[in-house]
This record gives sequence, C-alpha cells and structure tokens, in this order.
Amino acid sequence: MNLKKSQLIFTLMLIAFMSCQAQKPKQMNTKNTIEQKIDTLLKQMTVEEKVGQMNQYNGFWDVTGPAPEGGSAEKKYAHLRKGWVGSMLNVRGAKAVRAVQKIAVEETRLGIPLIIGFDVIHGYKTLSPIPLAEAASWDLEAIKKSAQAAAAEASASGINWTFGPMVDISRDARWGRVMEGAGEDPFLGSKIAEVRVKGFQGDDLSAVNTIAACAKHFAGYGFSEAGKEYNTVDIGTSTLHNMVLPPFKAAVDAGVRTLMNSFNEVNGIPATGNAYLQRDILKGLWRFDGFVVSDWASLNEMITWGYTKDKREAAKIAVTAGSDMDMEGYVYIEALAQLVKDGVVSESIVDDAVRRILRVKFELGLFDDPYKYCDETREKETIGNSKNHEAVLDMAKKSIVLLKNDNKLLPLKKEGQKIALIGALAHDKSSPLGSWRIAAEDDTAVSVLEGMQRYKGNTLTYAKGADVTTEKADFVQEVVINTTDKSGFAEALAIAEQSDVVVMVLGEHGFQTGEGRSRTNLLLPGVQQELLEAVYKVNPNIVLVLNNGRPLAINWADEHIPAIVEAWHLGTETGNAVAQILYGDYNPSGKLPMTFPRNVGQVPIYYNYKNTGRPTNKDNNVFWSHYTDVEKTPLYPFGYGLSYTTFEYSNLELNKNSFKIGEDVNVSVTLKNTGDLKGKEVVQLYIRDLFASVTRPVKELKGFELVELKAGETKTIHFILNKENLGFYDNDGTYIVEPGDFKVFIGGSSVTTLEADFSLID
Ligand code: NOJ
Repeated sequence: MNLKKSQLIFTLMLIAFMSCQAQKPKQMNTKNTIEQKIDTLLKQMTVEEKVGQMNQYNGFWDVTGPAPEGGSAEKKYAHLRKGWVGSMLNVRGAKAVRAVQKIAVEETRLGIPLIIGFDVIHGYKTLSPIPLAEAASWDLEAIKKSAQAAAAEASASGINWTFGPMVDISRDARWGRVMEGAGEDPFLGSKIAEVRVKGFQGDDLSAVNTIAACAKHFAGYGFSEAGKEYNTVDIGTSTLHNMVLPPFKAAVDAGVRTLMNSFNEVNGIPATGNAYLQRDILKGLWRFDGFVVSDWASLNEMITWGYTKDKREAAKIAVTAGSDMDMEGYVYIEALAQLVKDGVVSESIVDDAVRRILRVKFELGLFDDPYKYCDETREKETIGNSKNHEAVLDMAKKSIVLLKNDNKLLPLKKEGQKIALIGALAHDKSSPLGSWRIAAEDDTAVSVLEGMQRYKGNTLTYAKGADVTTEKADFVQEVVINTTDKSGFAEALAIAEQSDVVVMVLGEHGFQTGEGRSRTNLLLPGVQQELLEAVYKVNPNIVLVLNNGRPLAINWADEHIPAIVEAWHLGTETGNAVAQILYGDYNPSGKLPMTFPRNVGQVPIYYNYKNTGRPTNKDNNVFWSHYTDVEKTPLYPFGYGLSYTTFEYSNLELNKNSFKIGEDVNVSVTLKNTGDLKGKEVVQLYIRDLFASVTRPVKELKGFELVELKAGETKTIHFILNKENLGFYDNDGTYIVEPGDFKVFIGGSSVTTLEADFSLID
C-alpha cells in the first residue's frame, strides 16, 4: 500500500508552499509564538516529563473501558504530581476538573496544564439525537448548531476536548456503533464530519465555549468483519481510500485538532501501530499537525492481537507509527523513557509527539488560563439552559424519517380521536437518551407519552404491553436479556380495540446499541413483534414509531402497518419532537443515512455497491447475483424518506454533454412541491462512472441540497461536478480522474427518478 514516492514528495512540497502563501501575517505570528514557546518548554523537560505529556489517565468514577492492570487512583495521583500525566478523560464538572488541573499546574515542576477529554458524542447533559439520527436530517446547519450546543455545555463543565465526531463509515447494521456515526456514505459522512468539527471547535479554539474535536476511529473500524465489535478488518486499498478515509480527510481539512486511532487491525496491522495510516497518510500526505490519541488501552491490545510481544515493543511500534498519546494503557509511561535512554527510540520522535500535544494545549489557551473551563457559575447557567433545549428539539424534529404513510394516516387529527399509546418505549425516559450519555442524568428524556399529553384535544390512553429487556440497562454492563413476559398484552389489546388510532413505540433500548453492542439479528427485540401482530389483529390502524440505533429489519411491519415513523433515539426532547411530527406541527424531512435491509442475511447492504458481472434477472433463471429467498432490493434505500407533502422532479439538464477533465459540469433540476403543505426535500445527486480502471459503484452521492418549498412552489436547483468529485482512488491509493462516460441521477433518494449522460475527455 505504499504511495508512489515522487508523487508524495511533490504533493508535500506543494501543500507546504501553498499553506505558507495562504497564511496571513497575524496567524503566522501567533503560530510562530506558540512554536517558540513549545521550543522553550521542550528544552526544560526531562524525558520522563515528555513521556508524561503522552500519558492519559481515566478519572476516578466514570469508566468507559475495561480496567487495565496496574492502575490505581493512588498511582494516578502520584504520577499527576510528578508531571507524568498530560491528559485525563472522564473527569467532569468544573469543580472536579479544577482539582486535578490544580495538581498539574501548581504542584508539578513545570506546571503544564492537563487537556481534559470526554465522550461528548451527542450532547453533554442536554442530549441531542444520536449521531446517526442527526445524519438523517441532512441538515448541515442544524448539525453544526447541535455540536455548538454540546461544546457550550461540556466546556462549562471543565471539558476542553471531545472524543468526537466518530466519522467511521459503516455498511453493517449489526455493528452497534453505527449509532455513533453518519451512516454508510463517504460524501454525506464527509460533509457531516466537517460541520461537526466546526461546531465543536468554532472559529476560535481559545474561546471559552469551544472545545477541541477528535475524528475517530482512524481507521476502518466500521468495516469490522461480520459487524462484530472489535473485530478484524481486511480491506482493499481502493475501498479504504474511497470509502473509509474521506470523512477523516474532511475533518482534517476542517481543522480538527486531534484524531483517535482504533481497536481494529487493518490488513494485519493494528491501527494503533499502523505507520501507513498515521505517518504516511495523516501526518505525511495530509500534513496534520494536531495529535493522535490511542483508543482505550489499544497500545496494550497490540499484544493481545499477537502483533507486539510486550509493552516495550508496543511502545516502540506505536510511537514510531505516530500514536502520540496513550489512553489508559500504561504503556508509554512504563516503557517509553527507557526506550529513549537505550537509544531504541529517537528522542526527536517523542519531541514531535509532545510538540503536537502542547500545540493543542496552547491553542486552547490553557497556558494563559488553565482554569478557564472551571467556572461553576457559568456551569450552572449553561447546563440545560433553554437555548440548548431549543437546539436539541430542533435537531430531533429534523432527524425523524417518515418511512410509510398509507392513506394519509399521519398527521393525526388534533381533536375528537381516541388514541391508544402502546409499548414500553412510549413511556421510557431513559432509553430515548440513547447510548453514550455519560454526563446526562438518567430518566431525563421527555417520553412520547409526555409529549403526546401536551395535545389535549384527543383522548389518550396508555398501556405498556411488554418491556423490551428484563432489567434496566446500563452503559457498562451488557443487557441482552430480552423479556419473554407477555402478561401486559391483554391490557394493551383492550385499549387498542377501543381506539380510533393506535400509536406503538417499539424498538431497541438505548443501551442495546453503541460500543460493544453488536447484534446477529435486526428484528424488534423481545416480544415486541408478537405484541405488534397481536394489536394489529384487533386494530390495524397503527402508527409504528421506531426507537432504535441502527437499521432494523421490519419487513412484516412494512407489509402490514399503514404508517411507520423512524424516530431513532432522539435525546432529551424525544417526546416533544415525536408528538410534533405525529400531529403535523412539523412536516418530516429526514432521509435515511443507512440502507434498511429486508433481513439480516442481506447485510452488509448499501446503495453504492458494485454491479457484478451478473447483475440482472431479466431471464429469470438462477444465474444472476441474488439470494433465492429474498428480493434483491433493500426494504428502504439510502436517502429515502417521505413528507406530508409530495415533490416532483423534472427538467434534469446539463450545460453540455462533453467536458474536458477539469471543466465544471453544471447540472440543474426543477423541483415542485405538488402537495398542499409547506415541506422540505433533500435533493440528491448521484453519478455513475460507467467504465473505469478500477470498477466503480452503480451510484455515488456527489451532491445534495435541502430545499424548502411552499405548497405549489417550484425551484430550480443547481449542482456543479468537477475534478474533486468525478475521480476516485485506485489500488495504489492514488486519486485519478479518467476520461469516459458517466451518468448523473437526481431524485429524492438513491432510487432516483431522473438521469442524464455526459462524458469526460482528455
Ligand atoms: C473506547 C471507545 O472506542 C472510544 O470511542 C472512546 O472515546 C473511548 N473508549 C473513551 O471513552
């Protein structure tokens, strides 16, 4: 997977030249001043103190990984006092952070402040929807605001560095962590990575309400074999470059200050020890000048993978490969200083890592005021304030996807209706908070029941029907025991029978998704499917509201249930958002960021697949690429989602049909709102490169625009395709644009309605 050397050197020189040209004098001065300060500091540091900067410890109460050997609070405090700790994670609250910062700043020889990391994945205390749900909005401005709100709360609580955004592309709904990402597509994923980074970091990292972001997990984690957590990743160079790396590149281009590497190996080399990824690509080709943190004890895990024999070898390989900070692994702190003293690892490699870490600390302004994030008054004023609630409610409404709405069952009438609300998740105030919400208070979500109760015109009755799991789930303990208890069915059937409409809230508990929560089936857990079918027998007029962190296989529901709303895990304001959608106070506009399969056997299933040599079944015999027991198509395709209004696409036009490579291809389309309500549509543009030196997918998203139209309104939407989106990475990882024939498609999902042809010429 080596890059061609001459090409690499030329690119590096060009980028270096261009970035010098681009810098304004003021920025250069600030940059130079920081670099000079780092030089001065580095000269004063012992090897142990340098290695200390590369050492990150977990705090004393929250735990987000297995407890490593050899760690104790006593040891951590002792190391803090010696200046052997550069960062802590999972210390939160202005007061608690001040306490550890005080030790670092006032009790150590050099007084270097700590950088405080935390998993701010979808909000801090006031939670926005899970990241996959946010991605379903395709609303970049809203996603940015959601990250800003998260940064405001976290920074008020002592945190100055989030371990987000997770930008892993994944095509496998079995993988529990799909809830943390932006779905299956690298183009959408890149746009979202960019705004999330900008939302967290703002324009000024030293501002008190912005925090450093961390693009993770570098790289390939979303391609874990069989969707099994922490599993091996075997991936071709072209797929790595075309599918996995683009969102990381977008994050780097957006100025992300840190990256986290990953637990998985990539083609036999653990990501933590992977020099190709971290040295050649990230720090070489992309000129990334922030730092890389390992994942939790992932240096140690290189030993378990069978890649390094002990901590000493793990330290040598990881530092050489470009891992700058060791998260709760005790590897650098135990082995690295000695490796430098023995001449095995050059001190300049350590200096480079420390320089990167100090650079981010300087940029955050921690040297000017190490306690700037530790203001308890600001903490009280900011956490949970109305502005943050508004931001997450807005985001939650925009994240909902209407999957089915036969006979316009939705929106519900606001008066004179008897409505039965059924399902444990309908009145669960914890589960809608989703996974990754360490700082949030449990049971603080507005439940769907509470949200619907605000609409007083109807008669609303509620019955749980059945729980999802047997016990209350939590973040660390695995909860997979789905209940078999059907004793609540009778009550649910009774209220369903007497109602005009039944709203059923079913799906996954929030902690059945996320890290360590891979599943081998994608059905509704427990007895929920049985409950759905039983209710359907007494009253088929059902609106199914799904709460889940991954695509589910809901084939039966799609065949039988007239209205289906994908409501994910929407965070603190869940019930209000769902009720506003159900009652039509908000017209749904979300589109799926991941394909929904018909059954788990189709997974991995994704819209940008390759054609194969036998793609069609036109002769209807067995010799084509398919399964014999299920349709080839997904249940709901990528990009799909309905509205309470309707849209019509027409006039797909190109400014010409033949273009020189490098010339802009101008594409336009007319969109009309043909319904009788105002609504939003995500206009999606896809291309297909028909013949290429490395085969290309049948469709690739290359542009989208979120358009709002009044009833009857028409608008022309313009897109430009150019060199940056008409090429691809080949099997050497080189980006090329080839002459040839292309198709362009536009529509409201990846199953598009309009198409046109054009060609590129040399
Ligand atoms: C392990 C997870 O993989 C990572 O995403 C997270 O940031 C760290 N633990 C810290 O909690």
